[in-house]
Amino acid sequence: MNEILKNIVTRRSVRKFSSKAIPEDVLNDIITAVLYAPSAMNTQYWQLTVIKNEDMLERLQKAVGKALDRPDYHRFYGAPVFIVVTVPEDYRHGAVDTACVLQNMFLAAHSLGVGSVWINQLRDCYDKTEVRAIMTEAGIPENHICFGCAAIGYADCELPADRENKGIVKTVE
Ligand SMILES: Cc1cc2nc3c(=O)[nH]c(=O)nc-3n(C[C@H](O)[C@H](O)[C@H](O)COP(=O)(O)O)c2cc1C
Repeated sequence: MNEILKNIVTRRSVRKFSSKAIPEDVLNDIITAVLYAPSAMNTQYWQLTVIKNEDMLERLQKAVGKALDRPDYHRFYGAPVFIVVTVPEDYRHGAVDTACVLQNMFLAAHSLGVGSVWINQLRDCYDKTEVRAIMTEAGIPENHICFGCAAIGYADCELPADRENKGIVKTVE
């Protein structure tokens, strides 16, 4: 198996991060990989909002927890960086483009020793007043909606060496 394939099969979601910052050059490499994600008709309509500000992350955590009635909602597993991917609300390929963006991000991060996990909760509450106010403060356009976010940072836990694969593969010859 070549190094790219090994990187794909060894990536795992990380759900406990250390507070260690991601060096700027490493984060920039991850973002560069995202810039090359495919998008329908090459629209690249998405916006990445990279939040490192601890005060904003805490406020966002609280706002999400409140909006979803989950007072114990985690601070994005303690990740030092939280990336909100948003797309225009009237763009029909927003969900799938977001998935391409996030997969590029996760694989790039893993190749650089940085852990990651998809965070789905903003999808269910981006339109709630308190959450939207923080998104606006972070520079996210009002007409943008969210299908997924990423928590990234250095893992503070062991990751499973392998996992069960349940997807169906059929070959017709
Ligand atoms: C659409 C989507 C939503 C997800 N939402 C969350 C989430 O909110 N929190 C979380 O911890 N993991 C989330 N995950 C990560 C999955 O749980 C994870 O990818 C899956 O269990 C397989 O594990 P692996 O990533 O370690 O291979 C999500 C993944 C996808 C694709």
